[in-house]
Amino acid sequence: MRKKIVAGNWKMNLDQTAGKKLITEIIGHAQNIPSDVTLVVSPPFPHLGYVKKLLIGNVFLGAQNCSDQPSGAFTGEVSAPILESFGVDYVILGHSERREYFQETDEQLATKVNQALASELRPIFCCGESLAQREAGNFVELVTTQITNGLFHLSPQQFSEVVLAYEPIWAIGTGVTASSAQAQEMHYALRQHIAKKYGDTMADNLTILYGGSCKPSNARELFACPDVDGGLIGGASLKAEDFIAIAKSY
Ligand code: PGA
Repeated sequence: MRKKIVAGNWKMNLDQTAGKKLITEIIGHAQNIPSDVTLVVSPPFPHLGYVKKLLIGNVFLGAQNCSDQPSGAFTGEVSAPILESFGVDYVILGHSERREYFQETDEQLATKVNQALASELRPIFCCGESLAQREAGNFVELVTTQITNGLFHLSPQQFSEVVLAYEPIWAIGTGVTASSAQAQEMHYALRQHIAKKYGDTMADNLTILYGGSCKPSNARELFACPDVDGGLIGGASLKAEDFIAIAKSY
């Protein structure tokens, strides 16, 4: 059985007071979610320390990025070893906002994945196409190429630590979600692509999250798809009630 994960990506939102309120509310309801669902919260870096102290059993800590370097004179960066020392469990890598606004390349992301794994952080590796790319028709090839370039240098042992997140860029923060058929089509294609490189068992065991305007009203239908193993949640993860409702949609 592969792991079901509902991961919140707070992005660059919430000051300390609001962050404490949100994590306290999430923890207060976390025992009500199905026991086979793992929750991950990924706040901005300064929140990591206190959030870690408040977490309980099935709730894990994520970061939203890490450096491609282990240490040194890289002002403003945060390395995987530093995240590990704060008890971070997961790190989101390759989010489309990082690719677009910070020009992160596949090559750089492959290095960040190595850094994360060397510090025992599980990468939540994001992939996805823009609207123009979807309309051009070759989106499956484009997204599978992101996976090949970012991850296929890993050994099977390393790859087994990775979580994938398919996030069509046209669905992120737009209120337009992929239909369950569109999500399933891509998740199935990704699993086939992984199977060709790492074999059926690895592909079967891989958790593939859907992200992009996932909310309480559509989570149940998305999570019912055979190849959708949970969600990477942006906007709706900022409201404890919605985040928990999504996690309960299994
Ligand atoms: P959204 O963001 O849920 O607000 O669309 C998802 C994401 O960017 O991870």
